[in-house]
Amino acid sequence: MLRTHTCGELTAKDEGKDVTVCGWVHRRRDHGGLIFIDLRDRYGLTQLTINPIKNKRAWKTADAVRSEYVLIARGTVVKRPATMVNKKLKTGAIEIEVSDVTILNAAKTPPFEIALKVGEDAVTQARNLNEEVRMKYRYLDLRREMIREKIEMRSRAIRFIREFMWKEGFQEIETPILTKSTPEGARDFLVPSRLHPGQFYALPQSPQQYKQLLMVAGFDKYFQIAPCFRDEDPRIDRSPDQFYQLDIEQSFAEQNDVLDLVERLFTSLVEKLTTKRILKKPWPRLTYDEAMEKYGVDKPDLRFGLEIQHVSDLVKDCHFQVFSDAVARGGVVKAICAKGAAVFSRAQIDELTEFVKKSGAKGLAYLVVEKGGVKSPIAKFLGDELTKLLLKSVGAKAGDIVFFGAGDKRVVRDSLGALRNELGRRLGLKDPNLCAFAFVVDFPLFEEDKHDGHYAPMHHMFTRPKEEDVPLLETNPHMVKSYQHDMVLNGVEVGGGSIRIYDRTTQEKIFELIGFTDEQRSYFHHMLEAFEYGAPPHGGIAPGVDRFLMVLMNEDNIREVMPFPKTGDVRELMMDSPSTVDEQQLKDVHICVSPVSKSTS
Ligand code: AMO
Ligand code: AMP
Repeated sequence: MLRTHTCGELTAKDEGKDVTVCGWVHRRRDHGGLIFIDLRDRYGLTQLTINPIKNKRAWKTADAVRSEYVLIARGTVVKRPATMVNKKLKTGAIEIEVSDVTILNAAKTPPFEIALKVGEDAVTQARNLNEEVRMKYRYLDLRREMIREKIEMRSRAIRFIREFMWKEGFQEIETPILTKSTPEGARDFLVPSRLHPGQFYALPQSPQQYKQLLMVAGFDKYFQIAPCFRDEDPRIDRSPDQFYQLDIEQSFAEQNDVLDLVERLFTSLVEKLTTKRILKKPWPRLTYDEAMEKYGVDKPDLRFGLEIQHVSDLVKDCHFQVFSDAVARGGVVKAICAKGAAVFSRAQIDELTEFVKKSGAKGLAYLVVEKGGVKSPIAKFLGDELTKLLLKSVGAKAGDIVFFGAGDKRVVRDSLGALRNELGRRLGLKDPNLCAFAFVVDFPLFEEDKHDGHYAPMHHMFTRPKEEDVPLLETNPHMVKSYQHDMVLNGVEVGGGSIRIYDRTTQEKIFELIGFTDEQRSYFHHMLEAFEYGAPPHGGIAPGVDRFLMVLMNEDNIREVMPFPKTGDVRELMMDSPSTVDEQQLKDVHICVSPVSKSTS
């Protein structure tokens, strides 16, 4: 090793030692001859002092260095004078009196500053940086403490997961990256084959089929930190190309076994690696119906209440037509009592009205509850008595606003679900120090809407229907509930899984309901066949590593927790990918790029 110590470890106890440190010039200050350099490595900062009188040669070198130069410095650890001690720094009690310093490499002026400016905080610095520049020079971006810490946290979390899973008796098995395109939901990334002209591999959207086949093979407890590839549109919590899952599968396991395992894993991860508090232990387990009723979404943020309440019965005969008509037409009227929201201005309420319209609502009725009574455009239609009854029923007090959604059941559910989240944000109820974990279970097997006259699986086509509902597959597939389970953290679905089908007949029935053609069915021939060779009952789950870390670290974009993410338009600016390739490379894999697709690429 070139160095004897890192820049983060020296303390007053090391006084008098001769040490050698290496690192980057974080800051350099020239104090009338005496030069101070904060030298930085992954472990921290150490102050070097270079005295022109004591050491002319070292001073000359130090005089020439600039930010981000790479240095090796030798010297003696000395205690700083009491007035110069920097309590904020681990090494703030000492400095190194340099006897020898060499420039290992010079650096151009970086396109953005790595160190914070005096008085600047990390959040302001991040906000002021252009993302394209950050990503183009990601290796410099990653030098910044705040960014580096996220990747280090990621690394610690992955190590924790691995050690936990091994201790639990799970084996880590890698599954292929070049695999087969199957209609699984998202769009595949394809890789042309050189040896098989016209044929393609696909990158796996997840190792779903492999992990089930490993169960058939008898590896009863499997896990993998699995790279997954999906060609999707980006969202703040969705990477548009690749991400990692903690992929888990277990044989002879029931749903509770799968849930208990991830609950223990993530509870201990949060408690060992962070200072966050877990809101409820054991984690609440909600049914899908319960979640949709109370929170309007299948991934509720349980850090706050603001539950959606039924008021249809109370208002069905009232004189406010929006309400009575909604009920008369078979719809519903529901309410949210927003505690303390009476501080909202009229303009803010109008913003919320526009907000719910995005989910299809026609408007947003409300009652502002004040000490002296109620302020609302609809109170005169409701009348005093009904207004009082409504306030009592939803538990509203002075200082609250009661918001109402009326109309089609689904529109009301979706719009109030979105409103609840927005209210949680605006009322500051999303405590960043809390982890509100939950499981959602008992999902319908299929989505509400048919697609091209067929049913689409809510999770995926390998999810097992509840035994008692199997007869409904023939008569009323929409009513069938499944063994899907989602893991939710602070309003984000951070993991999904299920107990699987393991017999050919049920699997074929599901393929039929999905509307697979013979050709599509044939893509899954290996699964159907494997089920005929003694497949054990099995199930699993796959928490998304990146998405979980994004929520854990309170980031508002998944890119922030990925070492080398793509930008919004799905490019990696540092490597400049995707890119064109040589004609010969294309020929090798029998690909001919048409001029149209070239010009639109
Ligand atoms: P699913 O498709 O629900 O399940 O994915 C599981 C978890 O993976 C994460 N995730 C993503 N993270 C970042 N970017 C994306 N584009 C992205 N897509 C998914 C989420 C999600 O909850 N094979 C099943 C798992 C199983 O049944 O065991 C599967 O992949 O956190
Ligand atoms: P209108 O009678 O359309 O002027 O609406 C009176 C109030 O009811 C306004 O505050 C509207 O935003 C609200 N409103 C209208 N339609 C709905 C609806 N479907 N659900 C809830 N509130 C509504």
